[in-house]
Amino acid sequence: MSQNIYDNETFFREYMKLRGEKSYNDLLEQPAINKLLPDVKGKTILDIGCGYGHNSCLFAQNGAKKVVGIDLSQKMLEVAKKEFCHPCVEYRRMDMSELSSLTQKFDMVYSSLAFHYAENFQKLIADIYVLLNEGGYLIYSQEHPIVTATMDCKGHHNLDESGNFVSYTFSDYAKSGQRVGPWFVEGVINYHRTMGEIISMLAHTGFIIKDVVEPIPESWAMKEKPDLIKEYIKPTFLIIKARKPE
Ligand SMILES: C[S@@+](CC[C@H](N)C(=O)[O-])C[C@H]1O[C@@H](n2cnc3c(N)ncnc32)[C@H](O)[C@@H]1O
Repeated sequence: MSQNIYDNETFFREYMKLRGEKSYNDLLEQPAINKLLPDVKGKTILDIGCGYGHNSCLFAQNGAKKVVGIDLSQKMLEVAKKEFCHPCVEYRRMDMSELSSLTQKFDMVYSSLAFHYAENFQKLIADIYVLLNEGGYLIYSQEHPIVTATMDCKGHHNLDESGNFVSYTFSDYAKSGQRVGPWFVEGVINYHRTMGEIISMLAHTGFIIKDVVEPIPESWAMKEKPDLIKEYIKPTFLIIKARKPE
C-alpha cells in the first residue's frame, strides 16, 4: 500500500505554502519539462500524481481533448476540483500502482515529481507503455537519483570558508530501494533508483528515449533565486521524455 503523505495535515499545509512561494518547481522543473512537451491540441493525456491539478487544467486550456488527472491525495484533489476544474479534465483518486485498471488509451502520459514515490518502477513503466497509443509520449520528472541516494536522506551541500557552495556529499548510490526521511514531517517514503536502472527499464520496456534532462537554471530564474547556482554542483531534478514506437 502506497504512503499517502500529502493527506497529512502538516505536510499538506507546508507543501501548499511552499508551492505558493518561488519554488524550485516554478523556477527550474516546470520551465524545463515544458520545453519537452509536444503540441497537446486534440490529444488525450494522463497526468499521474496530478496534485492540485494546475498542469491537467493547463493541458485542457491548451486544447487537449481529454485529460485524466489521478492522485492518491484527497486533499490535493479537493483543491484541483475547486480551483483547476475544466470540462475536459476528469480528476480521479487512484494509486499509480493501479494504472492497469484504466481501460482508455492516451497520446501522452505526463507526471511532474511523483515517480520517486513509486515502489515498483518496472510495473509503473510497463503499465504506462500499455496505456499509451503507438507514437505516444511519456514525459515525466522526478527527484534526481543523486538526491534520492543517501540512506538517511541527509545529502548536503558543503561551503568553503567564504560561504560559497563548493560540493555536495551523498552516499549509497548503488543501493536501490526505499528511503525514509524528513520533509515537513518525519517518515516520508521515497524510492531510490540509479540513473542506469531508470534508463534501462524504460529501454527494456520498449520506449525510445528522446531526452534526458538535468535542468540548470536560466538567467531569469537565477535573478529570482540566486541559490539556484547550486544546480551547477548537483542537479535536483531528472526529466525524461520517452516515446512508444509508432
Ligand atoms: C510533488 S507533488 C506534485 C504534484 C503535481 N504533479 C505538481 O507538479 O504540482 C506529488 C504528487 O504525487 C502524489 N502521489 C504520491 N504517491 C502517489 C501514488 N502512489 N499514486 C498517485 N499519486 C501519488 C501526491 O499525492 C502528490 O499530489
